Amino acid sequence: MIQEYMIVKSNRLIAQDIWEMVLAGSLVRQIARPGQFVHVKAGSGFDPLLRRPISIAAVDRKNGALTLLYRVQGKGTRLMANMAPGARLDVLGPLGNGFPVDALRPGQKALLVGGGIGVPPLYELSRQLKAGGVEVRHVLGFESAAHAFYVEKFSTLAPTSVATVDGSWGTKGFVTDVLAAENWAFDCLYACGPAAMLRALEAAYPGQRGFFSLEERMACGTGACYGCVCRPKNDPTGTASKKVCSDGPVFEMGEILI
Ligand code: FAD
Ligand code: FES
Repeated sequence: MIQEYMIVKSNRLIAQDIWEMVLAGSLVRQIARPGQFVHVKAGSGFDPLLRRPISIAAVDRKNGALTLLYRVQGKGTRLMANMAPGARLDVLGPLGNGFPVDALRPGQKALLVGGGIGVPPLYELSRQLKAGGVEVRHVLGFESAAHAFYVEKFSTLAPTSVATVDGSWGTKGFVTDVLAAENWAFDCLYACGPAAMLRALEAAYPGQRGFFSLEERMACGTGACYGCVCRPKNDPTGTASKKVCSDGPVFEMGEILI
């Protein structure tokens, strides 16, 4: 992990409230797994005080660059959206434990399920699984067609199904509606998205091998402040905890109370 000023190479609106930012810097050399994130200090001085965690969506080792896909939500992400190419962004990372790509052998099947702003880390994951000879399928859920992003990019990697809440693209409803209709067989499930989506996946696939990336509000991002604790499921004492930033954000499916 290092802290550095990365250079904004590009920063553009790609869907409603969704931006794609490409950053260059030496931090890229340290990225070990898809699903790791960076902690971004937007703005200058103490406002906003805290860094914002954003997943690494794609890694370009040749050019020393990484891609962030982010939704403008509040002050921090609004400041990011105002940055022009050539600007310097204070970034800490790479942080966290990402998705295990080596959980599958060549020829085995992976199902990748993403919801909304949980979709970004699955892109680099899919690229790496594909490179390892794993058979991949994607199911991506968005609010509407206007909010959907990277569907074409995912489709160039592997078969991709889309669900939108308002039915403006693909299946009307949620990713779980697509899954219920298709009944695909797979060896490992990888997912990132809202807690309700992850809970629905756990209920739909009891005993399934899989990995979930969790979101929790973060302060330090490095395991020091206990600001992001979650509870393991199998804890008879009820006192054990895990930190999403440093033990996760990726956990085995069924390991954590969601
Ligand atoms: P504000 O609402 O003003 O933020 C206020 C505070 O709440 C900040 O401290 C902020 O960090 C925190 N916060 C708000 N929402 C969240 C949230 N959902 N999760 C964690 N902290 C939050 N968003 C993306 O758009 N793209 C991504 O790839 C992405 N990856 C993430 C990966 C991880 C591991 C985590 C934990 C979160 C990720 N998020 C991602 C959510 C993103 O961190 C928040 O949307 C962002 O911090 C909001 O900041 P803001 O200043 O715009 O909003
Ligand atoms: Fe500080 Fe996780 S954010 S311990």
